[in-house]
Amino acid sequence: MADRYSINVLIFSASLRKNSLNDRLASLAASVVKQKGGSVDRGFMSEFECPPYDGDVELADGPPVNAHSFCKRISAADAFVVASPEYNASMPGVLKNSIDWASRFRPQPFNGKQALLLSASPSMIGGNRGLWSLRVPFEHLGARLYPDMFSLAQAHQAFNPEGAIADATLQERFESTIGCFMDLVEAAKHYPALKKQWVEFLGERADARIDRVETAPAA
Ligand SMILES: Cc1cc2nc3c(=O)[nH]c(=O)nc-3n(C[C@H](O)[C@H](O)[C@H](O)COP(=O)(O)O)c2cc1C
Repeated sequence: MADRYSINVLIFSASLRKNSLNDRLASLAASVVKQKGGSVDRGFMSEFECPPYDGDVELADGPPVNAHSFCKRISAADAFVVASPEYNASMPGVLKNSIDWASRFRPQPFNGKQALLLSASPSMIGGNRGLWSLRVPFEHLGARLYPDMFSLAQAHQAFNPEGAIADATLQERFESTIGCFMDLVEAAKHYPALKKQWVEFLGERADARIDRVETAPAA
């Protein structure tokens, strides 16, 4: 199995909390990717957290240093995995704010990136509604989101002391989902004809003054 993948995956959780359940899930995802032969760039939300987006600040000072880091780490990866908490049935504001900042760079870093979304919550649906909301900005920005999403329900009692999912069937589903995602990332990396064009508003009248268009490959 080792050497099957020549892919590098950025994996982070969107929680700033020390004992974050989503951070535990991100760590588990990182160990599965490594076990299967992929490389991991393990990120943390604290490295990407930015002051609230403000167009005047951007104009005067440019993006903050953590937005540069976020953009750089996304751009360097073949794919990214986010384990995100659900806040009030949606995504955490801290993540949306970092996405907004990173979307201001050119090349726009999310365009053409393969991505997998995970969540963990003490609730019965594992924070899955937050992931549906998170698909919107990422897909808008041209990320290729994997259709399956893993949402760990009752996560506060779902892990064993070694950090794996205690329920063997769930652990197996977690691993096989990541394996299928890695197959896709590997295939996409080596498929030269993959479409990478990004036009922010495809059907709108073209206007060179305001259009946000990328026709060159993202990487
Ligand atoms: C402001 C706020 C809103 C929340 N809203 C939801 C929610 O809509 N659905 C849910 O399942 N859990 C919700 N929770 C509970 C979080 O899922 C729980 O705190 C979880 O542990 C946060 O993720 P973390 O452990 O990775 O920090 C909310 C928590 C906070 C602080």
